[in-house]
Amino acid sequence: MASSKVFSSLITMAFLSFTSSLAFPGYNFGWGGTGHFGGGYSGLYPKFYQFSCPQTDDIVMSVLERAIAKEPRMAASLLRLHFHDCFVQGCDASILLDDSTTIASEKKAGPNRNSIRGFEVIDEIKAKLEEACPQTVSCADILALAARGSTVLLTKTSWSGDQSGGPNWELPLGRRDSKTASLNGANSNIPAPNSTIQNLITLFNRQGLNQVDLVALSGEFIGQVCVGGHTIGVARCVTFKQRLYNQNGNNQPDATLDRTYSNGLRTVCPKTGGDNNISPLDFASPVRFDNTYFKLILWGKGLLNSDEVLMTGNVAQTVELVKTYATDEGLFFSQFAKSMVNMGNISPLTGFNGEIRKNCRRNN
Ligand code: HEM
Ligand SMILES: *[C@@H]1O[C@H](CO)[C@@H](O)[C@H](O)[C@H]1NC(C)=O
Repeated sequence: MASSKVFSSLITMAFLSFTSSLAFPGYNFGWGGTGHFGGGYSGLYPKFYQFSCPQTDDIVMSVLERAIAKEPRMAASLLRLHFHDCFVQGCDASILLDDSTTIASEKKAGPNRNSIRGFEVIDEIKAKLEEACPQTVSCADILALAARGSTVLLTKTSWSGDQSGGPNWELPLGRRDSKTASLNGANSNIPAPNSTIQNLITLFNRQGLNQVDLVALSGEFIGQVCVGGHTIGVARCVTFKQRLYNQNGNNQPDATLDRTYSNGLRTVCPKTGGDNNISPLDFASPVRFDNTYFKLILWGKGLLNSDEVLMTGNVAQTVELVKTYATDEGLFFSQFAKSMVNMGNISPLTGFNGEIRKNCRRNN
């Protein structure tokens, strides 16, 4: 009797651990590591949907292809969405939640308001995935897949001829969706465009990302590298106005900003008004994924203060990296890919935490 009870509970345990590792394979896989953050053990792995929804990436890519063909800037916007998700409570799709009785949406936060975009594309991907594999693929993973897919597609469509150029990366999956959002977190954790180098390092370290990640990621990379005729990746006047007119409270422009470049920017961005006028993050590079951004920074032609301070901020490591990436594009690509994986690993929800939302805009 007793032994059969033990036996049946053993079966139950075996069953539970079987189902839990199938349904939540990110849970309790003991392959070591400790941190929840960039580079460390995250519990995520690339083949997470191999059996439960093998067509995941194809569905994501087919929606992206159409959206980006229609509006190339969408690639930049989707990349940024993943970044702004991961920096607030981790990569848990908290940024996608709309206002409700229990949720104060992150969409209203300073860095997101009138700025962050791409939600309709995420909705479309989610709807197609729900049709194919109900309640299986998380919104947080959709954001990560869309960021990677955008990078890859942009590289292909923008690079005339040789398509070997841009980075691609093996993307760990298995994130689950949060039941909460953090408006305060969005206001305090996402770096401001007038950040000093110390602000940036502090905010990135808070996420477990180091200075190497900081430089490779803040390449604002779609913006800086893929502008050309397509105007991919832009910033509003309000985000760089301070540099043009009153950098340090003395009514002087930022001395590190190239004179000719800054004169040009003033025509787009007057001292008063025009806050929503936009300028490409990288005005110079042809329409392809490349390292032009880093060259522009060297020349004092980085659009945002937070970009330029990587060079002028007196932190030897970021200065060195800017110089290195300006000359070694391949190294930039490979570091960028690694940094994207690290960023995507920030505090994911796994196991029985969170949920798989049916609609990315609200909790189930
Ligand atoms: C270093 C800290 C960062 C700061 C201070 C920063 C700040 C900004 C600002 C102010 C804009 C313009 C927004 C607007 O005018 O509405 C922008 C655009 C953008 N950022 Fe960043 N960013 C940072 C890091 C990143 C990272 C890590 C990524 C991606 C991995 C990223 C991707 C983008 C993209 C793609 C755009 C263009 C978006 C579009 O055109 O819709 N940024 N960023
Ligand atoms: C950045 O801009 C904000 C809002 O305009 C301002 O309050 C803050 O003082 C600025 N920070 C720096 C370092 O200039």
